[in-house]
Amino acid sequence: MFVEISSTIIMAGVAGYSYLKTNGPTTNDGEKIQRIFSNSGWTINEKGKTKKVCIHRKRKIEGGTEYVLQLPLGMSSKDIIEKKHVLEDGLNIRSKYIDFDPRELLKIKWDRTALKQIRDIVKNKKIARKEIALDFDGMLRIRVYNQPLANQIDWKDDFLKKKGWSVPVGCNREGMIWHDFDKLYSLIVAGTPGYGKSQFLNMIISALVMMQPDDVTFTLIDLKEGAEFKKFENLKQVKRFETDPKKVKEVLEEVEKDMSAMYRRFIKDGYSNVKEAGIKDRHFIIIDEGADIAEDAECIKLLTGIARKGRAAGFYPVYSTQYPTSRSIPIDVKRNIPTRLSFVLDSGTASSNVLDQAGAEDLPMIPGRAIYKNVRCHTVQTPYMSAGQVKQRVKPHIRIKPRKDEAYAEYSHQEKTSRKHSLKFEKV
Ligand SMILES: Nc1ncnc2c1ncn2[C@@H]1O[C@H](COP(=O)(O)OP(=O)(O)OP(=O)(O)O)[C@@H](O)[C@H]1O
Ligand SMILES: [Mg+2]
Repeated sequence: MFVEISSTIIMAGVAGYSYLKTNGPTTNDGEKIQRIFSNSGWTINEKGKTKKVCIHRKRKIEGGTEYVLQLPLGMSSKDIIEKKHVLEDGLNIRSKYIDFDPRELLKIKWDRTALKQIRDIVKNKKIARKEIALDFDGMLRIRVYNQPLANQIDWKDDFLKKKGWSVPVGCNREGMIWHDFDKLYSLIVAGTPGYGKSQFLNMIISALVMMQPDDVTFTLIDLKEGAEFKKFENLKQVKRFETDPKKVKEVLEEVEKDMSAMYRRFIKDGYSNVKEAGIKDRHFIIIDEGADIAEDAECIKLLTGIARKGRAAGFYPVYSTQYPTSRSIPIDVKRNIPTRLSFVLDSGTASSNVLDQAGAEDLPMIPGRAIYKNVRCHTVQTPYMSAGQVKQRVKPHIRIKPRKDEAYAEYSHQEKTSRKHSLKFEKV
């Protein structure tokens, strides 16, 4: 009896599904993509005929499906990539019909929990939000993923490379992406407050210390009164630590002098850069909340000079700011730092100021979610290194400083007061 009821339900499910497939809304992502293109007016008129996009190929990829589209002549892939959200929303529109795979019904165990299992299938289907990645290499590749990227990727020491100057930036669907400072040099980091800029800077400082403890040097400029970089102040790799915007100019002048000394060092041996000369030292100038010095023309001139000339000398600036306006990221700094990392931003204009294209405004509001742009843009989830992990990783590199006067006074006072209990003589 029970078997009969269950098989009737399955058959009804399959029949219902085929009815919806023919008469209901589009459930196939390929068809949906084509409909979104024509509904959004992404078509071209040629000799009085409307030319539509056609799906050239479709293949299964890990976690989803890739659609390869041939764009008609005259259609801009850049415009479509910038309107990625239109495609993503279209693919995620929930119909009043339930869009599920009837094969899932076959997995149901027909016991007392059957109803709950059906409910879960429907609920999971409703909760899952598809994400897409777009790429153009002569063909437009639309990768539709059934599940979103992980909301958090916890730090693992395995993310570190054994050699060189690459730091992990974040994971995308294909795996980890690294920023190689010896190839790409400097980096601009931007994003709305609270979405992971400082966390990222802390992570790269710790990673560089762990990987290259003997060859890395830092100048850390923390214009949030030291709240972020104070923990690194006493590392033996930290040459300068500054929190006062008024003193940044002096600090950058000193960095410039070090950089000129490095130039003299390799030029005298007939080399044109540190890599050729086999010099291992690299100097990172990391600025958190750079907007505070953006209006200081002298600071910006110095920073631009360091970004421009630093490549040969192994001096690499990393400049971070909350509000990426043309004021907070001066054009000369941008011109000399082509690689960018942007966390979520509040507008397409802000995104264009960082990435030279829209996109960061459409990132989900997830801390650590960012777009990394070197030549192409990659959406990544940056690794999360907790405050405890940072402390633990850098602790072996903290230098013991001579005791300060007051600390010593306090110590000697304690010593004196405790001394009266240290030895007792009794008359025998
Ligand atoms: N990669 C990440 N994965 C998960 N959570 C993260 C990640 N990065 C940051 N967070 C969370 O977001 C919080 C804010 O991060 P962070 O301080 O780096 O933001 P911010 O962009 O520097 O903000 P502000 O501009 O205010 O300084 C962190 O305390 C942490 O809880
Ligand atoms: Mg911060």
